[in-house]
Order: sequence, then structure tokens, then C-alpha cells
Amino acid sequence: MSKAAPRLADETAIAAAGRMLRAGALVALPTETVYGLAADATQDNAVGRIFAAKGRPRFNPLIVHVADLEGARALCTVPPLAEALAAAFWPGPLTLVLARRPGAGISALASAGLDTLAVRVPAHPVMAGVIRAAGRPLAAPSANPSGTVSPTTAAHVAEGLGGVVDLILDGGPCRVGLESTVLAVKGDTVSLLRPGGLTREQIEAVAGPLCAAGDTGAAPRSPGQLARHYAPRAALRLNAPVPEAGEAFIAFGPPPRSVTGPCRQISAAGDLGEAAANLFAALRDLDAAGAAHIAIAPIPSEGLGEAINDRLRRAALGRDPQGPAEQKIR
Ligand code: TXA
Ligand code: MG
Repeated sequence: MSKAAPRLADETAIAAAGRMLRAGALVALPTETVYGLAADATQDNAVGRIFAAKGRPRFNPLIVHVADLEGARALCTVPPLAEALAAAFWPGPLTLVLARRPGAGISALASAGLDTLAVRVPAHPVMAGVIRAAGRPLAAPSANPSGTVSPTTAAHVAEGLGGVVDLILDGGPCRVGLESTVLAVKGDTVSLLRPGGLTREQIEAVAGPLCAAGDTGAAPRSPGQLARHYAPRAALRLNAPVPEAGEAFIAFGPPPRSVTGPCRQISAAGDLGEAAANLFAALRDLDAAGAAHIAIAPIPSEGLGEAINDRLRRAALGRDPQGPAEQKIR
């Protein structure tokens, strides 16, 4: 297949994407978090193509994107606490893992054979428009080869998956820049499966204290939470106030005056939202510039810092295929 070049996500392109998805195509498109690689979640073949395109292990289930809470209710049982979270945060960077309704018509592959389903109502107008145009729930992981840094621009998607997708819609850079927060809701227990673009503080204001996955037998584990993930080619050193000789640097706040090598500022003002939006592009940039070692300034762990540090820890793990990298974190 020839390489797909990004196409501006205007109304005509959004309508075309909807038709293509119904016909079983793979469409990469922007969400407010990261770019997604979408397929019709009701078609086994189309969902299977997602796993093949990404080189994603089949045990790692996908998020199904729907237009609204009504769309989620059609696929899952939504307990009151999940309704409250949905009312507060949808559309937005929140994914809820809920009990799957038998007979909802979603490919079993999408949820890797589990009896739960991850659902999300995205806020991005292009993604929302394509869901409406397709008239189907859309399975969509991040639009990158499995294990690599998630794409926050259409150009990132083209670099990684341009040869295997049917269409890339360009809607500009993603506002949030980190994947959605994944929560499992079972009865009145809410567990954090993946920190992300919605902060713990925001969620706890609605749902009360979160359980860590694994704290309670009630919480399903997230099969996709492999230890090493979101990784650039370069080796990373975290919590580094200053780079050593030969290291590129990612600065949070003003960079130390001693920095003379390649440096990317993810937020000169030390703003976590700005840092989240710029982090993945900075890692890719330094990779592309040929940096073999990247030092990263300390980033506070409150607010979006929890998800930023989660991604950085996974990205920094060693790549020995026999080592802890290939083990699940839990
Ligand atoms: O922001 C996002 O969430 C982006 C955009 C495109 O929506 N999508 C994304 O998808 O990051 P992906 O596939 O890269 O990550 C989905 C995460 C994985 O960690 C997966 O294991 C978990 O959600 N997940 C999906 N279904 C699950 C389920 N039924 N139970 C537990 N975890 C699940
Ligand atoms: Mg991903």
C-alpha cells in the first residue's frame, strides 16, 4: 500500500472517513488526548486490522469510542457512580471499564475476550464528527506502533503507521497530549488502571478516594499496562536537575544555564498542562535529532504530573526482552 499522507479534517473528509469505516477501513484521527487508530468496533475483521497494523498483542483490549452516555449504555451496564463520572467528565479524557452487555454487537476481539469493555466519549470535534458519520462505535487505540510514543500530530501518525492506514485525518496538535485516564468502576468501587489526561484530584472530587488496581479483588487488571511502553529509541534518565556530558535535556521550567547540548523546553513556565501537551513531541524530536541519551528534569507528581511521570517511568525501562520490560506491571 502506498503511504497515506495526512488530509485536512474538513466536513468532506469527515464524511468520507465515516463511509470508509463502515466499509471496514482503518482511519487515524485526532482526539483531544492523542491521535487514535479507529475501526468499526462491530466488525471482527476491521478490529483485527488494528492489532495487525500496530503489532499489538491480542490480549491487550481496545477502548471503544461512542458519541454520548446513551451510546455507552447500549454497550455496557453503567452503575450510578459511573453515571456520575460520565456526567462530570464526558465528553473528555476519561475511559470507563464497565461490565459488557452481552449481545451489544461489539467484536469480542476489541475487548480481548474479557467480560468488561472500556468506553469513552471523546471531546475532539473531528473524532465526535467521525463517530456520528460512521454511525458505529469506534475501537481506537493510540495511532502508533505498539510500545512506542503516542502521536500528538498527524505527522507523527504518518511516520509510524503511514504505510498501513487507509486515511489520516489532520486536526492539528492534540490539546491534552497524554492518553485518557482509565478507571474501572464496579459497584461503588473505582480503581485507577491508568493515570492520564484527567487528574486524580478531579476524579476524587466526584468519586471519592480511588483504589489502585490490584488493591481489591473487585478491580479488573489492565492487560495493556506493560511495564515498558511509550518508549522512544533513546535511553532516558529521569529526575535529572542537569544533563551530563553527551545527554540531551528535557527541561521543565527554565533550563539550567549550564545546558549547552540539545534541549527541549516542555514548559518554560513550569505548567503541567503545557508540559503534558508537549512531552511526546519533545521525545520524538530528540529521537529524530539522533540523541542516544536524554536526561529529563524532575516533574512534580501532583495533578497531570502523575500521568507524565507514569509515562516517563515506562519509557525509561530497559529494553531487554527477557527482562522486566516484558512483564506486566501487575
Ligand atoms: O486517550 C486515549 O485513551 C487514546 C485515544 C485514542 O482515545 N487511546 C488509547 O488507547 O490510549 P490504548 O489502546 O493505547 O490504551 C487503552 C488502555 C490499555 O492500557 C488497555 O489495556 C486498557 O485501556 N483497556 C482497554 N480495555 C480494557 C478492559 N476491558 N479492561 C481493562 N483495561 C482495558
Ligand atoms: Mg497506546
